Amino acid sequence: MQIVRTPGSARAIARTLARPVGLVPTMGALHAGHISLVERARAENASVVASIFVNPLQFGPNEDFAKYPRSFERDVEMLAEAGVDLLYAPAVERMYPPTFAASIDVGAVASGFEGARRPGHFAGVATVVAKLLHAIEPTSVYLGQKDVQQTAVLRAMLRDLDMATNAVVAPTLRDVDGLALSSRNVYLSATERTAAPSLFRALTSVADAIDRGETDAGGVLASARALLEEPLVWDYLAVVDPETFLECDPLRRSAVAIGVARAGSVRLLDNVTIPSAAGVDPILTPPHELPRAARIRST
Ligand code: PAJ
Repeated sequence: MQIVRTPGSARAIARTLARPVGLVPTMGALHAGHISLVERARAENASVVASIFVNPLQFGPNEDFAKYPRSFERDVEMLAEAGVDLLYAPAVERMYPPTFAASIDVGAVASGFEGARRPGHFAGVATVVAKLLHAIEPTSVYLGQKDVQQTAVLRAMLRDLDMATNAVVAPTLRDVDGLALSSRNVYLSATERTAAPSLFRALTSVADAIDRGETDAGGVLASARALLEEPLVWDYLAVVDPETFLECDPLRRSAVAIGVARAGSVRLLDNVTIPSAAGVDPILTPPHELPRAARIRST
């Protein structure tokens, strides 16, 4: 696995890779959820690029940028092991020199929920992902359903700006008790960790209610709210349209139940999709048949 540090060298080397190229952008502190994206990219592409960059633009002034977990050496081993061809790990100064001033605003989809609680967060995410896409020029970018509003924001950016990359969204990897894997789970105390899977249970109860045909948003959300265990407290719980992130009331299928529970200063973020009556998931990209180049490579 080659490691590159600047946009120029990333682009020069990425252009020599066999296509299709899959890019997995990350902020490091890798866990099995990130590696599942690499494996999906590996199966669907001739080459895989990963990036590690803790992006200061997407952290608010009172957030954990300085303290965000960093484990570069271990991350490098995990990515090499998973078959990544190229790792792009730029320095902050190369990404954002003093003259840097651009920002990508995708509009309303970025304004509610995470966008409302973390002003500037999605502009930071969209801007850094645009820079990564310009450096690597991948065929597809691999994103986790875990950060579902982020996937909606990035899909909006790719579509509205006519970008050549295709977004692939892969399912959330969970611990055996249902807690979504996250780099920030290391911050949880033992009591908080025990209560944490109740967030997924609450979200699942919303999806089950919609599946049974219930449409009363107030009633369904109130019953689900009661399932969260102490010491966790709700930040928000809602059922939204997967593209606009506007709330669905009355409840309906082809939607996503999103929730954030707070455990002290840690925010646990999760979601569960409600497929259409025909079983089509509104967020996930179905795995496609392996492209010819990948089939040749795997033999
Ligand atoms: P990060 O939090 O490191 O996540 C990198 C990718 O891994 C994201 O697409 C995220 O949704 C996915 N991911 C996280 N937990 C997952 C899980 N349990 N199962 C499956 N996928 C999971 O998201 C970011 O970084 C940044 O915002 C980034 C897109 C890199 C831009 O800076």
